Amino acid sequence: MKIPHPIQYQGSKRNLAPAIIKYIPNNADRIVEPFAGTGAISIACASAGIAKEYWLNDANRPLSRLLELVIHQPDELADFYEALWNRQHADSVAHYYEVRDQFNRTHDPRLFLYLLSRCVKGSVRYNSDGRFNQSPDKRRKGAKPENMRKNICGVALLLKEKARVTCLDYKAMIGKIESSDLVYMDPPYQGVCSDKDHRYSSHIDQGEFVDFLAALNQKDVPYLISYDGRCGNKKYGRDLPESLGLKRLEIEAGRSSQATLLGKKQITVESLYLSKALLERLHGEPQHRKMGGWEQLMLPEAESAYA
Ligand SMILES: C[S@@+](CC[C@H](N)C(=O)[O-])C[C@H]1O[C@@H](n2cnc3c(N)ncnc32)[C@H](O)[C@@H]1O
Repeated sequence: MKIPHPIQYQGSKRNLAPAIIKYIPNNADRIVEPFAGTGAISIACASAGIAKEYWLNDANRPLSRLLELVIHQPDELADFYEALWNRQHADSVAHYYEVRDQFNRTHDPRLFLYLLSRCVKGSVRYNSDGRFNQSPDKRRKGAKPENMRKNICGVALLLKEKARVTCLDYKAMIGKIESSDLVYMDPPYQGVCSDKDHRYSSHIDQGEFVDFLAALNQKDVPYLISYDGRCGNKKYGRDLPESLGLKRLEIEAGRSSQATLLGKKQITVESLYLSKALLERLHGEPQHRKMGGWEQLMLPEAESAYA
């Protein structure tokens, strides 16, 4: 079943969302995502009707502003994308580089949507001056405007009037998180199988992150974290300390494309850590989830509101 996703982003949890949200209880008042990225987990939770409110946060300003536009100004964003996409036909690679220059001057989130849709693997890379420097994918032209519109409007239908978006460092959120919330955290990767480079502009300090988790424990806030993982026998990322009292599960993230290229059959596995407060609320049982309610919302009557 399909869940809308307008933003292409390497590291998005869109494919793992069904496996992850099984560990989110039904009684959370609000889902909080301090490292929201594309908001894949909030979108999946909204699609399964799990919570009444959502707080999406990401320290990347153009990305958090883009999420805000997707949710609160879907028509304007889809119109802008369509006009920009239609201008690429003469020389789509030259067009990409023009848009990239413009984005680096203005940080306009609408241009970011196009760049992410059009760049290699939706992979966000910046140079040392903080300029976005990812190249275009020469084989693809980016999502077609009609598909992009459907995905943008789908997310808006799921999250409008329920979601708030902020652009904060995650540590600044602690005072506003309550024990009635459910916090899902997917901090920047610490490196994946066969990949030694840095994909994200920011990396977090593990000691500070552990302090943040200890503060959530102190407040009895239920949470889950995607953190380290392994590919075949090779581990990536550092374990979280036992003192936090977390339960670690493993979720299959599919076959490593790099390993497949090398003729190996290695499966990438990601860790999912569940806090003690979360385990108590789940009573040890994963939840059965049915998603896809948003497609009903996209029936002609509902869609006309976005025409
Ligand atoms: C692995 S990605 C999250 C992907 C997300 N789960 C999704 O499905 O799209 C990590 C995100 O953390 C953000 N980030 C990095 N450092 C941060 C910080 N100190 N505070 C808040 N967000 C941060 C990055 O901008 C990035 O979007």
